[in-house]
Amino acid sequence: MTLLGRELILGVGGGISAYKSADLLRRLQDIGFGVTVIPTRASLNFVGSATWEALSGRSVNENLWNNVHEVPHIKSAREANLIVVAPATADLIAKISNGIADDLLTNVISAATSPIILVPAMHPEMWLSAANQANVATLRSRGVLVIEPDEGRMTGEDFGIGRYPEVSRIVLEISNFANINSDLLGKKILVTAGGTREAIDPVRFIANHSTGKQGYAIAKAARNRGAEVVLIAANSNLADLPGVEIVHVSSAEQMQKALTERFPTCEILLMAAAVADAKPANTSTVKIKKANYQSIELETNPDLLASLSKIRSAKQFLVAFAAETSEIDQTTIESAKSKMVNKGADLIYLNNVSNGAIFGADETAGLLIDSNGETIEFKNQSKDTLADLLLDRALNKLR
Ligand code: CTP
Repeated sequence: MTLLGRELILGVGGGISAYKSADLLRRLQDIGFGVTVIPTRASLNFVGSATWEALSGRSVNENLWNNVHEVPHIKSAREANLIVVAPATADLIAKISNGIADDLLTNVISAATSPIILVPAMHPEMWLSAANQANVATLRSRGVLVIEPDEGRMTGEDFGIGRYPEVSRIVLEISNFANINSDLLGKKILVTAGGTREAIDPVRFIANHSTGKQGYAIAKAARNRGAEVVLIAANSNLADLPGVEIVHVSSAEQMQKALTERFPTCEILLMAAAVADAKPANTSTVKIKKANYQSIELETNPDLLASLSKIRSAKQFLVAFAAETSEIDQTTIESAKSKMVNKGADLIYLNNVSNGAIFGADETAGLLIDSNGETIEFKNQSKDTLADLLLDRALNKLR
């Protein structure tokens, strides 16, 4: 399971350990989550809304009957990529396992389609009670992650199982369960995708077969690993990716403008877009009549990657793509290597797109070549796999 974005609801139950969730909230923010806190009314006896509002930077509501016109339980449930309830009291566990929805938090959980994680904390007698154990077993059988409480000292003199777990363990268990990798946290990544269009007149243009799938796969992978991603997309029909800033462009010139603005602050640039090498020397403002439509005079477009690499710093990592229509052999490999050098890139992915291969497909086949000449062959592997590998390489180099 891969999380789409990092929107998280932190439900807080009415237990003395509610204050420990303040630290949990911070650690979840540290791995890139936007956290909305929904406390139960009982929990406000332990930690008030002001604390949650200050820490989360968001307004806090526990009442189902506030802002009814916005249908807040459905809105929150849809927006969340993950729901974590900490501390989860015996009462909350019982309600959730029985589908009871009598406040905002339990309504959100009833309506949720995202993964749910419960962090129980209660006295050992309550944790081990037959009713609670049966409820926990029911929830686990439905795919809810119920984290095992710690053993240790309770409030007062009591000792046993039921303590709020160490926050570091909770974060680790959440990361493993939801397949969250945060190795690119905070890294600024710029990706181009799709194929540019060069206008001939208001009706016609020069284009290519790129659909943007590889660039989008890279943007998604980088976002899932915690990066701040800007995707410059040229004429792709793919849906925008939540959590990724998308700049839609059409021509090479527009892509160049968007790249010039964003490149100086990025740490990794991946040029997956197929940029038109040339454009009509003149774009007609009216449709060219058939009688005058025999030939088009072209002028060369600038090489976007080559010009960016001239102003690059050593702390940036640049990835180029090369699409050829012949077998990958020594000749194409040598040509890809010189392309990488001429364009000032650190890595190039060479693929053979003859006979309609690769364009629009979910899988890719090709050869990854780095600046030392080392190669990795891809044989019908997913574009997502290539995306992660490119990011691994870039990250290793930047470290
Ligand atoms: N590219 C670019 N600007 C261009 C053309 C290409 O930045 N005007 C980038 C692409 O995004 C891609 C790489 O350069 O990362 C691929 O270039 P490619 O079109 O294969 O190489 P060319 O330099 O155009 O060489 P040729 O077409 O002659 O093989």
